[in-house]
Amino acid sequence: MEFDKVKELSQRYLFPNYGRLDLAFERGEGCYLYDDEGKQYLDTVAGIAVCSLGYSHPEWVKAMRDQVSHLVHVSNLYYIKEQAQLAQRISTITPEPITRTLFCNSGAEANEGAMKTAVRYTGRTKIMSALNGFHGRTSAAMGATGQKNIQNSFEALINKDAYVYYTFNDLEDVKAKMTKDTAALIIEGIQGESGVHSATREFFRGVRDLCTDNGTLMIVDEVQTGMGRTGQWWCCDALGVIPDIMTTAKGLAAGMPIGAVMSTDEIASVMTPGTHGTTFGGNPLVTASGCAVIDIINREHLLENVRTVGEAWTKDLKALQADFPNKIVDVRGMGFIQGVEISTPEEAASIRDYMIGHQVLVNLAHGKTVRLIPPLIFSMKQKDDFMKVFSEAVALL
Ligand SMILES: Cc1ncc(COP(=O)(O)O)c(C=O)c1O
Repeated sequence: MEFDKVKELSQRYLFPNYGRLDLAFERGEGCYLYDDEGKQYLDTVAGIAVCSLGYSHPEWVKAMRDQVSHLVHVSNLYYIKEQAQLAQRISTITPEPITRTLFCNSGAEANEGAMKTAVRYTGRTKIMSALNGFHGRTSAAMGATGQKNIQNSFEALINKDAYVYYTFNDLEDVKAKMTKDTAALIIEGIQGESGVHSATREFFRGVRDLCTDNGTLMIVDEVQTGMGRTGQWWCCDALGVIPDIMTTAKGLAAGMPIGAVMSTDEIASVMTPGTHGTTFGGNPLVTASGCAVIDIINREHLLENVRTVGEAWTKDLKALQADFPNKIVDVRGMGFIQGVEISTPEEAASIRDYMIGHQVLVNLAHGKTVRLIPPLIFSMKQKDDFMKVFSEAVALL
């Protein structure tokens, strides 16, 4: 179907809740997307940190074909082989003693599940979360998202008594606000949506200690940073902290809708039958996808790729910043979650548009940060191709 027709149908029949660029894609292969005219785009967005294996990875496609041909969905009324196998694989990559998983369909749902688990385990009523963090757009996840622009006009759906907001990277603020009512503190190791802001190791470890001392559960939201994006399986590995509960989604099934809550035997044990659940959660198709993703990341040494290419990318971006200090304000992040803050939102938008015009896709986070979150297979050569166009775009500002 031609682009104009896709746009016309979308504008006529869909809720207008997404701001969309004038692009639509027909297919993808590796780190490239192709539009209806066959035009090729190098993709550093990966469906917002989702398509960890890029597009149409042959082994993943085979696993999905096999699965579709024999079983896509059965209910959690029964045991599900692929779900059990994925939970087992996840236990091999989560830090001890986190060995159990609850599956759902998205990052927001995973965070809802994590908060419900914490409230039930502790018998407490409050959740602490960071200002400018992002945890999703369902009611409780939106409540935990300390951003007015996301909560605005939906306040009726948020229990204001439940949420206490702290300043990211300010341990004294966390200390002052944590009480014996605090069931959980939820945190991202790198705040992706708000522009790629990293927690310092001291802050993250300090939060871990405060939670332990207070009997508060530490929930690390690895929805965006997990599944290898930082060059470690989890950002909390990179920051040297073991949480009580972790959540993930995006990259776990490389494009199939999935979310997961992971925790210890003891904490998971409170979620008895009837406490939580979802019809689709962890169905055979999405969990077979997750198994293939973990196997391929291991077999193709993709964490190593993320570290090697990511480090070189940081160097290149910092060198560009040194050349254009008035245009590039900051370079942040690690591995394949990098943020390049540009002086103004207008300049950031003009970089994005220039790059699209030159067949490279980039995403802007919080208006003026160019966020690079490519597939984990992104190569050194593709990084160089990106840098060539990006340098031109910055020089033109
Ligand atoms: C850190 C984090 N948590 C939660 C979410 C929400 O995930 P989903 O959009 O799958 O509900 C996101 C999405 O961007 C995220 O980045």
